[in-house]
This record gives sequence, structure tokens and C-alpha cells, in this order.
Amino acid sequence: MRRKIVAGNWKMNLDLSEARELYKELTKAENKPPYVDLYIFPPSIYLYPFSESPSFHLHLGAQNFYPAEKGAFTGEVSVSQIKSLGIQHVLIGHSERRVYFGEHDAFLKEKVDAAVKHDLKIIFCCGEPISVREKGNEKEFVLDQLEKALFHLDENDIADVTLAYEPIWAIGTGLTATVEQAEDMHREIRSWIKDKYTTDVANKISILYGGSCNADNAQELFACPNVDGGLIGGASLKAQSFLQIANCF
Ligand code: PGA
Repeated sequence: MRRKIVAGNWKMNLDLSEARELYKELTKAENKPPYVDLYIFPPSIYLYPFSESPSFHLHLGAQNFYPAEKGAFTGEVSVSQIKSLGIQHVLIGHSERRVYFGEHDAFLKEKVDAAVKHDLKIIFCCGEPISVREKGNEKEFVLDQLEKALFHLDENDIADVTLAYEPIWAIGTGLTATVEQAEDMHREIRSWIKDKYTTDVANKISILYGGSCNADNAQELFACPNVDGGLIGGASLKAQSFLQIANCF
């Protein structure tokens, strides 16, 4: 059975005391279904303090890293530095990194390879802007993103990746993809994986939905056969709403 995942992307939010409070509430929370894996991706500056008090039911991940071993890359953190905190998960390909920081497909491929080399587990994000959906080209667009940065991995390595479909027009806008739009894209992504790899691999990979997912709409989204969870931005900043979402399975 595919893993069910609810992941919180805190982005550049919360000061230290707010972040500590939220982390504390999430680590002591007992009311989540045992078959749902919870992840949080806090700002990297908080990874160290959180890693000092790890929680067995809350996985910590890094929002970003630079794909070089070490050296003169002012302001960046490396995969080994992340790993040295005991952190095992990274986000790659989030649309905000693509759009605001110019992370193009070739660079994302380098990040994928660096993460795999160091045995970090990837949540790889893909998704189209509104202009592409309006033209009806969203599937070609998403397939292209996956082919250029992810589908070079071999069968073993891809099987460890989690995907997140996040239509850009739904991120932080309050506009959620309809259940039909989400399921349609997720089904398509799974069938590309099947074509490119094997049915077994395609059935193993969890595909999350992201984009204004919240406690009110998560239930119907998670009920879709190919939606295996959510990547949650705004609604992950409060323990109550994040845990409500996890309880929507
Ligand atoms: P949102 O963000 O839930 O605030 O729309 C999702 C994301 O960017 O991962």
C-alpha cells in the first residue's frame, strides 16, 4: 500500500518562539491516524534546534539546499550539512524556488542527483501556471518538468521519491484544483511512471496534492484514488488545522 503523507511547508513564516511552539504542539499531538506520515519543512534556520528534540511521528525536512559538496556558496546549505543534523527529507522543485529564485530544470536535476547521492528522500514538486492551464497544455507542461529533472533516475531511486502536484494558480490563492482536476493529473502522472518504469514502481510512489489544501477540502481530495496526501502551506502554520488535515484520511 502507498504511504499516506501530509507535509507542512512553513515557507518563510514564524519567528523562533512561534516555530518552537508549533513544533512542540505537533510533536506531542497523538490524534493522527497511525497510517499517515507527517512531515514538516520549517525554515532551515530552525532545523538544528528541532533536530535536537526529534519526534518519532514527525519527520523533519529541508525546504532547500545547494547541490555542491561544500565551498564558496554564500548563504547556502549543503546536503551533507542537512544530513549531519540527522535530517532525511528535502523539497525540490517548489514553484516558488522555480519562479523567484530561477531554479530551472537542469539545476533541479542537479539537486535531485545530489539528494539521491546522499540518500536524502525527495518530495519533488511540479505544476503548471494558469496561462498553461487556460490553453489546456497542463499535462505536457508537467510531463516536461518531470522528464527534465526527475525521470532520468533509475527504478530503485525513483521508487523512493514522493511527488507533489501543485498547480501554481492554486498556491496561496485560496483557489483549489477541483477533485476532478487533481485526480486527472495524478492519474496521468502515475501512468507516465508506469510507462517509463514499471506498474510496480508507479503503484509505490505517493503523489501529494498541494495548493490551498485545507481542513475543509482535504477530505474530498484525499478520497481520490490517486491522491496520497497533501503538501500544505498556509494551513500547516497552525497545529490544529494541520492535524485536522491529517485526520481527513
Ligand atoms: P498553500 O501552499 O497551501 O499555502 O497554497 C502550498 C505549497 O506551496 O506547498
